[in-house]
Amino acid sequence: MPENILQLLKGKAGFISGQEISDSLGITRAAVWKKIKKLRNKGFIIIATPSKGYKLINSPDLSKEEIEIQVQGDLWKNIIFYQSVDSTNEIAMLSSAKNDTESGTIIIADRQEKGKGRLGRTWISPPGLNIYMSIILRPEIEPKDATLLTVLTSIACALALRGISGLKVVIKWPNDLMVSEKKLGGILTEVRSEPERIKTAVIGIGINVNIENKDFPAEIRDIATSIKNETGKYLSRSEIIIRILKEFEAWFNVFKSKGSRPLLEKWKQLSSTLGKNVKVAIGDSTVSGLARDIDEEGMLILELKSGSLRKISAGDVTILR
Ligand code: BTN
Repeated sequence: MPENILQLLKGKAGFISGQEISDSLGITRAAVWKKIKKLRNKGFIIIATPSKGYKLINSPDLSKEEIEIQVQGDLWKNIIFYQSVDSTNEIAMLSSAKNDTESGTIIIADRQEKGKGRLGRTWISPPGLNIYMSIILRPEIEPKDATLLTVLTSIACALALRGISGLKVVIKWPNDLMVSEKKLGGILTEVRSEPERIKTAVIGIGINVNIENKDFPAEIRDIATSIKNETGKYLSRSEIIIRILKEFEAWFNVFKSKGSRPLLEKWKQLSSTLGKNVKVAIGDSTVSGLARDIDEEGMLILELKSGSLRKISAGDVTILR
């Protein structure tokens, strides 16, 4: 039985009477009206006529309510939405330190004032346009396998974005979501560990959805892109988040039941890095070679000119022509 008013409204192509809502939810007509007003305040367009009742005309492009009714698997427990935060990863790390946040909590913000990228960089996070979210998990895995969570997340994001936009989204090692050789999104995984296991993993996901090229700062205009730039279409951020969370849960279950091998195979299929000559910046130094493979912990295996192999755990890859 539907347990929420938005579900009821979405379940009807036409009007639904106030009485039907009140009967289904077991609340008074006045309470129904209050709930309708609340949804309207959140940007849902709902028309109301005394004879026919209510009809949902349009939903805002980012809404916790919409995501909640679609994401009802075993993994996801709780969605916390903020209009503006410094960084969703920061909030997630702070609240998980206090141990008051359930595994399966998702923190989403419309805007970040201090969005964090990998390697201490800033993640451009203007309001109303993109996805900024952090997933909090307490998985039963060893700290050395934390990279696999990033591998899993990049697969989920690439598949979700391919499905929803039709774009050929690929993964540049370790975790860049790329299209037309430009960056569409990124993943920043932070963990709190005990010696034998991960205590909490915070997986931050940033995706450029409806931002236009002209709105990127000049220094990243040539290397960043968005779904809107690539397709000309505005997409609903809620729809993308729903798709990512569904893909994530499906791949998380694969990981739990079959281990890392299927993940690594899928990652390789989606990779734009393997088989290419690359330059990897690691701190102040760089190393060049052929990107041969990733190992079972997600490290990049580079074949150097000398023929020897080198494993790299973190760095910035440039694909050479
Ligand atoms: C990268 O540099 O590629 C990783 C970018 C990760 C950005 C996301 S946006 C949501 C979450 N909160 C942050 O401050 N960063 C991550």
